[in-house]
Amino acid sequence: MNDNNKINIFTQTTKSAVPNDDEYINTSDGLIYCKKCNTPRQKRVSALGKTYMPDIMCQCQRETYEKEEAERIRREFLNDIAAKRSAGLHDRALYECTFDKDVGYNSQQSEKAYEYTLHFPEMLEKGIGLLLWGDIGTGKTFLAGCIANALLDQCIPVMMTTFGRILNTLTGMFQEDRNGYIDSLNQYSLLIIDDLGMERSTEFALEQVFNVIDTRYRSKKPLIVTTNLTLNELKNPCGLVRSRIYDRILEVCVPLKISSQNIRAINCEANFKEAGNILSHPENDINVT
Ligand SMILES: Nc1ncnc2c1ncn2[C@@H]1O[C@H](COP(=O)(O)OP(=O)(O)OP(=O)(O)O)[C@@H](O)[C@H]1O
Ligand SMILES: [Mg+2]
Ligand SMILES: [Zn+2]
Repeated sequence: MNDNNKINIFTQTTKSAVPNDDEYINTSDGLIYCKKCNTPRQKRVSALGKTYMPDIMCQCQRETYEKEEAERIRREFLNDIAAKRSAGLHDRALYECTFDKDVGYNSQQSEKAYEYTLHFPEMLEKGIGLLLWGDIGTGKTFLAGCIANALLDQCIPVMMTTFGRILNTLTGMFQEDRNGYIDSLNQYSLLIIDDLGMERSTEFALEQVFNVIDTRYRSKKPLIVTTNLTLNELKNPCGLVRSRIYDRILEVCVPLKISSQNIRAINCEANFKEAGNILSHPENDINVT
């Protein structure tokens, strides 16, 4: 059988046997090939005594498809991260708290916080969290925000909030809805409560703080807490409810003392200096006529 006959037999079995401008028929096997990558765009399949030649992707079509597919998955992943970040970080200022913006006020603690994110799967399994405690303006919220963003970058669901915000949400809800809301916080792999101790200390507030902490504690999922309270104050609180709250936190959150200077005071000094420079510049003199 010469090559022409061979081609005829094969082309009888497929409807796309006529090559497009970027294709040709390979005379050695009678299949349509891509002119660009010289790999087939058909394959031969035999069934019920007939030979079919369905279309397949040539190598360059497959590469383009895989690239587009990878890009689609990447875009979906980024959209997913953006949605999780917007759901988990209500305060937009927290978007700016990232390890790459850390200028090193708490370098040792920051390293530990970073390591926490690296070992997060283990922390999640063991339900281990952190207790970032220290004076005002030392960088606790910043570090907690860095942890949140690093995990969100990996598409891990994190919620960072305050008891003030939680209590505002719970006020005005019916009891069943409150329980549902508190339970819903467990959908997050990590819950970060910023500023423990700053919430109202009414009986209602303390009861809800206890419910949130106890629900999280019982879920065995990790919790990170930041606070201005000292370790000593957390270990020796006044009142039974506070004792029960702090006792649970101390069991599952590893204490990390944040002991830098007040960074706000440092920033404030730098801002005043900058403002002083601008205002004392001759071209900024205001001529009142
Ligand atoms: N490591 C850091 N690198 C750069 N900026 C930082 C760092 N840590 C904190 N800051 C900045 O310093 C300021 C105070 O930090 P932050 O709000 O985290 O302090 P805090 O300990 O949470 O304070 P408070 O006890 O009042 O809640 C913020 O403007 C924050 O962005
Ligand atoms: Mg703070
Ligand atoms: Zn090709």
